[in-house]
Amino acid sequence: MAADEVTWRAVDDYVERAVGTSDEALERALARSAEAGLPPIAVSPAQGKMLHLMARAAGARRVLEVGTLGGYSTIWLARAVAPGGRVVSLELSDEHASVARQNLADAGLSDVVDVLVGPAVDTLAGMDDDFDLVFIDADKPSNVEYVTAALRLTHPGSVIVVDNAVRGGALLDADGDASVQGVRRLHDLLAGEPRLSATTIQTVGAKGYDGFVLALVVDPSGER
Ligand code: SAH
Ligand code: DHB
Ligand code: MG
Repeated sequence: MAADEVTWRAVDDYVERAVGTSDEALERALARSAEAGLPPIAVSPAQGKMLHLMARAAGARRVLEVGTLGGYSTIWLARAVAPGGRVVSLELSDEHASVARQNLADAGLSDVVDVLVGPAVDTLAGMDDDFDLVFIDADKPSNVEYVTAALRLTHPGSVIVVDNAVRGGALLDADGDASVQGVRRLHDLLAGEPRLSATTIQTVGAKGYDGFVLALVVDPSGER
């Protein structure tokens, strides 16, 4: 079988039916986002469920997201936190945040999520919460700033996931665009940061060829 983009999408569709990576509220969130003119760049259903399962596996009660868009990934994360848990999602665009709040209300999750509007670097600077899982998925040139802030707002055992870290292989291009430089600088940070143990996983699927960074916050003195 050809390992091409058509196959990647078909496999994601198969997985969606086989193990259940969508439902009506998630479908409505994507439809409302498209209707409002938001770009179709939410995580895929399979990736959304992966984030959800990561948050549950980590026992996350407090989740931080950077980059809300229409709240698709936010719904997956909000469904993962135990009763009494919280998700804080940071979004630059008032319009995106407004669509996200509608989608979260539709999914019955308004009470679980705070969407905070503004440049995330500024919002993060005013925060002093402690999060169990951080999902970074906003402007890629600021990845280093976001992970640096995440280190201040987490504890050993917290999980940090950074989306779009491979970019069709452009990660390898030392002369790549600003987003590529952002993910390359992120890897430089990971290489020299004893408080993070990290890997980068390449992915194919409905969103093409990309990948994500998975980092665990560790106590450098007790690192395995
Ligand atoms: N996590 C979403 C997709 C996020 S797309 C999902 O998977 O469903 C990236 C989002 O980051 C966009 O909505 C964009 O407006 C937002 N963004 C871009 N620059 C930002 C900044 N400086 N601060 C906060 N959000 C930003
Ligand atoms: C883009 C952003 C994303 O977060 C993503 O998953 C895919 C594409 C973009 O800005 O093009
Ligand atoms: Mg993304």
